[in-house]
Amino acid sequence: MSTQPRANSNADSKPVVVSGVAAARAYRAGLDGTVALVPTMGALHDGHLEHIRVCRGLADHVLVSVFVNPAQFNQGEDYKRYPRSLEVDIQKCATAGAAGVFTPDADELYPPGQPDVETDAPGITVGLEGQDRPGHFQGVCRVVVKLLNILQPDMVSFGLKDYQQLRVVQAVVTDMMMPARVIEISTVREADGLAMSSRNMRLDAEQRRRGLGLYKALIAAKRLVEEDGETDPQAVEGVMRAVMQSHQIEVGYTAVRHPQTLGELGCIEPALTGGVVALVAGGVGPVRLIDNMLLGAV
Ligand code: PAJ
Repeated sequence: MSTQPRANSNADSKPVVVSGVAAARAYRAGLDGTVALVPTMGALHDGHLEHIRVCRGLADHVLVSVFVNPAQFNQGEDYKRYPRSLEVDIQKCATAGAAGVFTPDADELYPPGQPDVETDAPGITVGLEGQDRPGHFQGVCRVVVKLLNILQPDMVSFGLKDYQQLRVVQAVVTDMMMPARVIEISTVREADGLAMSSRNMRLDAEQRRRGLGLYKALIAAKRLVEEDGETDPQAVEGVMRAVMQSHQIEVGYTAVRHPQTLGELGCIEPALTGGVVALVAGGVGPVRLIDNMLLGAV
């Protein structure tokens, strides 16, 4: 896939920053050519910037939304403590070549008193993150539908890092017949393998070392399936759990699932399912981390 910037991209100039929904619609309507949207919650790192770079190779204009979406945090989660760094984020968007940054207000996206509306793909949202974070994916779906309807991009990028989120959004976009094409972006990792995440900045040095246990668990799973030919999902899940526990991670879940439906598997048969996906979640001190890896894909 080419990641060369296209003619209309905006590598050197400051992005246009819009906050109001009407202003965002007007800005979008004035853009000639194709538009890619990169939805984010800010605190941008190299993983996010990879989305902008890939999208610059695919579309004439890349828009980034920066919005810490209250609807996807449940009570007790860290909505208020989620890192916010808008000025730095805008600068990073400029350097990566985004044309525009949309920073909506929570009160405009969720006007007080307006009835709640729910979009869901329950077959995919019930387990894994959905079980550990009730209401999370319904909040993600709600904001993604709003962003797509406001900015009407030709394509929208989502990271494999949040694997279940990607599959949920694909289901919604397909089922709701939304015209945007979903672009999948590979997980960007630190040199030692830790998946980049806005939450990593909350880890101290000791927790940062322990956090690597998620990646090591996935590598162990990959070896078991691809080199040893292990076919029992529970055996692989058990090994991942043990690796995480040996790093003093409080295991949320370890799972080996169908790569499209995220359904449970009786037997690991990568040739039949187009690979399988191993997913892990765990607490390192106060920080919850997730990661995943495709196993046995050809
Ligand atoms: P956020 O966590 O900011 O992530 C924005 C996008 O970046 C998501 O598509 C996510 O999968 C991707 N991403 C995160 N870490 C990555 C990494 N290390 N490598 C590549 N891509 C990575 O996910 C959300 O925000 C929100 O739920 C959102 C979709 C914006 C809805 O509010």
